[in-house]
Amino acid sequence: METTFSMLKPDCIERKLTGKAIDYILEHGFEIRAMEKLSLSKAQAAAFYREHKGKEFYKPLIEFMTSGPVVAMVLAREDAVEKFREVIGKTDPKKAKEGSLRALYATDVRHNIVHGADSLQNAEREISFFFPKIDLI
Ligand code: RTP
Ligand code: MG
Repeated sequence: METTFSMLKPDCIERKLTGKAIDYILEHGFEIRAMEKLSLSKAQAAAFYREHKGKEFYKPLIEFMTSGPVVAMVLAREDAVEKFREVIGKTDPKKAKEGSLRALYATDVRHNIVHGADSLQNAEREISFFFPKIDLI
């Protein structure tokens, strides 16, 4: 089975949507292999979103991601990376397909409650960043 990396963002925790998001994820066939609530340091958030450095939303993104705790998760199912991106919906909740996690609960493009790794390679990198000791075999 394939694994992907997800993170419930500070707005999800702040708005008390953690339970709803986790229920949604389980109901959509994902198994939780690892889960940890933690706070990102500025350096961790910057490393995590380094591909966006220099973009106009980068600074607010780092501020937002360090504004409160997050929940990091390793999720498993068939085609986990692609399927998870599908069920969370597009970055902007207004453009996310009906019934997707972001369409249901997110408020705007910068506060979209959940992260999902966008490729197998990034999923592996993000999993080893947050769960260096995990054995996925
Ligand atoms: P994520 O990495 O968090 O799963 O989100 P994503 O792939 O759907 O979107 P990405 O392009 O990687 O952007 C990362 C996060 O930056 C914020 N963002 N704001 N136009 C904007 O103001 C804008 N664009 C992106 C969002 O929080 C987005 O999830
Ligand atoms: Mg992304």
